[in-house]
Formats: sequence, structure tokens, C-alpha cells
Amino acid sequence: MTEQSEVTVRRLSGSVGAEIAGVSVAGDLTNAEFDAIHRAFNDHSVLVFRDQRLEPDEHVTFSRRFGPLEQHVLKQFAHPDNPDVFLISNVKDKGKPIGAIRAGQYWHSDSSYLAKPTMASTLNALEVPSTGGDTMFASMAAAYDELSEPMKAFLSGLNAVHDYTNAWDVFFSRVADRPPLSDEDRAKVPPTEQPVVRTHPETGRKALFVNPGFTRHIVGLTDSESRALLDFLFAHAQQPHFIYRHNWAPGDLVIWDNRATWHLAIADYDMDERRHFHRTSIAGDAAY
Ligand code: SIN
Repeated sequence: MTEQSEVTVRRLSGSVGAEIAGVSVAGDLTNAEFDAIHRAFNDHSVLVFRDQRLEPDEHVTFSRRFGPLEQHVLKQFAHPDNPDVFLISNVKDKGKPIGAIRAGQYWHSDSSYLAKPTMASTLNALEVPSTGGDTMFASMAAAYDELSEPMKAFLSGLNAVHDYTNAWDVFFSRVADRPPLSDEDRAKVPPTEQPVVRTHPETGRKALFVNPGFTRHIVGLTDSESRALLDFLFAHAQQPHFIYRHNWAPGDLVIWDNRATWHLAIADYDMDERRHFHRTSIAGDAAY
């Protein structure tokens, strides 16, 4: 007998994102349910599930359906009960943040600075501020599609240098409450080269793969050529019609495909209100 699934998919914007209903990811997902979710993931790049307050082990079990997990370079923010869960949090204990504070408050694709960048990431919202703290997602596949053919031809075959420390130089150095990156952690993340345009291994769709957070320069161009081209691509990719903005409620679970999207956490909330999320990271392959 063929397995039936009650999973429903509702698009959330013109370019990216869909809400999934009819399933609780904390239980054992049937193959039919997971196949429907996986298809929607490839079709929409960002999936939102409501009312899913997951224990760390449940969160990890769901995430592993997509592939093996990886742990973040900042080991001090691993969940004490399960190191595959990473804390994104402004909650403090004895004056010190218990998780990565101000994480991702700039457009980026997770871990694009790794030789094998994170394939997908998931966030489960446990506590959210009363106002603000939304996360925006932008489709880099839609952004690529809208470039002219001569621009696509020029970008084809170009590589860019990605570097985790770029985010510290351009963003974290301007905020007071993010602890500095230790020399030991810096040594774990040397700069790496990535194609400027990557091909999605499952859908075959091409996507821009440079981002303001981690991309330092385009290989082979002069500094001013590289800056001008990156600034153009970054402005192009941030146009509102490529974006879905997620307003979090406690229990929301969102998974996004880093091969096809950027995201940005909006820093517009009262830092005295708790924003406490659990994240998992699903390992990826080298970009091509
Ligand atoms: C991240 O970049 O993973 C953090 C996103 C968020 O806190 O909304």
C-alpha cells in the first residue's frame, strides 16, 4: 500500500519560502511525509513549520533526516545536553551571553567560508521579543536568474575569497556585546575560495554565491573592480522581491537552504527582551 501524507505547502512570497502544515516533526516522520517536505525544500528553499517546540534530541533527529550534522566553530555555544544544537541567544548568565549574540545580523549564507559550506540550517524559536527580531531570507537563485546574459557570462568561472573574519571586521567590531573571536577559533577558519555562481546539486538551478558577511574579494580582479562588482551584486540581491521576512512566534521551526539563499537577522528589538533560539547545521559538499 502506498503511504499517504497530509503535508500541505503554502507559498509565503513570490521568490522564496513556504509554510508546511499537517505534520509534527517531533514524531517519527513517515517516508511519505519526509519526501513531501524534501520536495518543498528544493522547490522553496525556506520552510516554516509552526508550533514545533522541540527538545534538543528531537530537533537533531529531524535535522538528520536531511543529512549528517556539523558543529559550529564557536564550541562554547553548543547546547549542554546535545552539542549538535547551537544556541543563538541574547540571554545572559552572570553577565555573559549563553549563546551567539547578534548572530547573523548581516546578509550571509551560513559557513560559506568553509571548504564544504553548511548545506542547510534550522532554527527553532523558543523565546522571542515582543516586537522585532524578524529574520529575512533572500533567494539567490531568483537574484541570479534576473541578471543579464552578458553579466551571467562574465560571472561564470569566477571565484571569490570567503573569510569568517570578514564578519568580525565589517560587523562585530562595531557592536560592544559580542565577545572577540579567539586566535584559536580564527586559526580554525582560514579563508577559502568559492565559485561566484554555484549550481544546486539537487535542482540544477544556479544561484549567486557571494555574500556581504563573508565574501572579501573576487579572485583576479583589482581591488576596485572587485569592490564595485560585489557592491553591485549585493545591492541587486537585496531587492525586496527576492525576500521573505519571517516574523517569529515561539515554536516556529524554520529550515533554509544555504546553497540557494542568504539570510539576515534584523537587529531592531529591545536587547533586554529575550530572544532565544536553537540551531542545527546540516553538512554540505563543496560548491561547484
Ligand atoms: C543566523 O544567522 O543563523 C541567525 C539567524 C537569526 O538569529 O535569526
